[in-house]
Amino acid sequence: MLKFRSMKKRVLSGIRATGRLHLGNYLGAVSGMLELQNSNEHETFYMVADLHTLTTPYEKEKLKEMTRNVILDYLSAGLDPKSCTIFIQSQVPEHTELFYLLSTVVSLARLMHLPTYKDKLKQYPNSSTAALLNYPVLMASDILIYKAGLVPVGIDQEPHLEVAREIARKMNDLYSTNFPEPVRFATKGEYVPSLTGEGKMSKSVEGSYISLTDSLDEIKKKLAGAPTDSGKGEKLPESGGVFNLFKFVELFEGIEKRKIYEEKYLKDGIRYGDLKQELAKAIFKELKPIQEKRKEFESSPAKVNKIIEEGAEKAKSIAKENLREVKEKMGII
Ligand code: ADP
Ligand code: TRP
Repeated sequence: MLKFRSMKKRVLSGIRATGRLHLGNYLGAVSGMLELQNSNEHETFYMVADLHTLTTPYEKEKLKEMTRNVILDYLSAGLDPKSCTIFIQSQVPEHTELFYLLSTVVSLARLMHLPTYKDKLKQYPNSSTAALLNYPVLMASDILIYKAGLVPVGIDQEPHLEVAREIARKMNDLYSTNFPEPVRFATKGEYVPSLTGEGKMSKSVEGSYISLTDSLDEIKKKLAGAPTDSGKGEKLPESGGVFNLFKFVELFEGIEKRKIYEEKYLKDGIRYGDLKQELAKAIFKELKPIQEKRKEFESSPAKVNKIIEEGAEKAKSIAKENLREVKEKMGII
């Protein structure tokens, strides 16, 4: 029987259920998800990676709530179940089955030398488990089970995508599967810096982030704590607190505004109090409609449940078919 197959390019992305989404997640991942959802040329699958959450310490009593919070953040940021499939990773167990099959073509050494693995181990020395080591293999499975070719994620996920491409290539060589080699869909916020002036904004670094649910007052307070300098200098900073503040200005008030501040920095000097007030307002302006939408979804739990159920069903039907194909090609069935 000939089946209608969509010619649209498939997209998959996911975020772990480790806390409320912040500006880094929003600009690095969710804004790319939105852009692709709204383009006519893509078929989009967006999940909450609840199984990946288990690779580092988590609270089992809170996992389901955290997972639902990411779904609510997705919906309030504008992911629309009419245009994309929203689901929870563990509700499509085919991902874990394919994960095992894919793990047969990856060497231990490749996984052990991954910088993302080493970083996570440094952060969580007691989490040296096979699950953490296999993190990128499950991620490859999440992507390849839909034969997705495009993955909107922040730049920190690039090493994982490299592994996914290698797995796709190896599977295609060994078993004549037809997996695409997935590439990252980059956004202009692919690297949102930390408010601390060091490293990237991250859920796991206290004081580094602004959440999508923060009030104007909270944003002001957080920005007030961001490190600055005297406000004047002979050349522009290339890293650190002020450099990061300029980056935020660019992301939320535009590149022109950044240039104005940079010029001031080199000439008369900047009053950071004013810069931070304006920046806080610009950030909140972007977050306010998201927060209003969140309230609506929070008060319609049945509607949200239905979105999650239908998402899992749709994802499952495709995942099942692709998994069967791989099992056939690997000689299992
Ligand atoms: P966190 O580091 O806060 O735990 P995750 O690892 O859960 O964030 O990342 C979820 C998604 O958000 C990924 O696609 C990741 O690349 C993106 N992301 C996370 N932090 C940033 C950031 N500071 N800048 C840009 N993208 C980010
Ligand atoms: N590793 C991603 C992160 O930390 C989450 C993730 C799991 C993911 N599976 C994925 C992202 C598949 C894109 C595609 O955010």
